[in-house]
Amino acid sequence: MKVLLVADLHMNLPQFAWLEKNAHHADLVVIAGDFLQITHSCDKTEQISKIKPIIERIRQRRPLMITCGNHDGDTRNPAGEEYAAWIQAIRAESAHPTDFGDGKYRFTSCIWWNGPETRKHMLEHLRANQPEEGVTWIWIHHAPPRGSKTAWTRNGDAGDPYLLKLIGLLGPNHVLSGHIHDAPFHAQGSWGERIGKTWAFNPGKQIGDVPSHIEIDLANRKARYSSIEGVELLDLK
Ligand SMILES: [Fe+2]
Repeated sequence: MKVLLVADLHMNLPQFAWLEKNAHHADLVVIAGDFLQITHSCDKTEQISKIKPIIERIRQRRPLMITCGNHDGDTRNPAGEEYAAWIQAIRAESAHPTDFGDGKYRFTSCIWWNGPETRKHMLEHLRANQPEEGVTWIWIHHAPPRGSKTAWTRNGDAGDPYLLKLIGLLGPNHVLSGHIHDAPFHAQGSWGERIGKTWAFNPGKQIGDVPSHIEIDLANRKARYSSIEGVELLDLK
């Protein structure tokens, strides 16, 4: 079971094209949020109209799991919290499996939360999808957890403390994130780190036509990171 993880493509269309071309190398492609770019010259409606066909084409090649980031919101709930209705619509329209490897692995996408309502919704979704003991549980959550090198910025740890609390409460095996673009490139940061029994990953964001990306081999418990700085390997045993 091989997972290809990217995040934070932020309307970099050549990087989306690379992903489309390379999707077939993986059993599952994961895009951990921030498809769009708040400061882009095109408005969000136009950006979404460009990204949706790309998502559809990747999905035709390989199973794809996506989640939303803080740049992806296009509407607000009654509590005034922004969320990405367009991503939720894609997920609802195209029923996709969340269990892989004959039920050995379960993937659960978490929405971007920015208030108590969306956060409550995320917790309910996680609880409803918690697998039975023995199944490897993998979360996709745009922000990395607090207390991890994958959340390292030049000003220190910018990880999500609520996510760290949920990791302690529900015990996923892996959390696939993005959001902190420079974390893998800082001397004190990292693209992959274990917190307790949970591996946290963040591929970061780089310039150019190839996104920095992580390939995770779940069966053999290995991870491989590729960026403009080279290739790094991690043994997840
Ligand atoms: Fe981002």
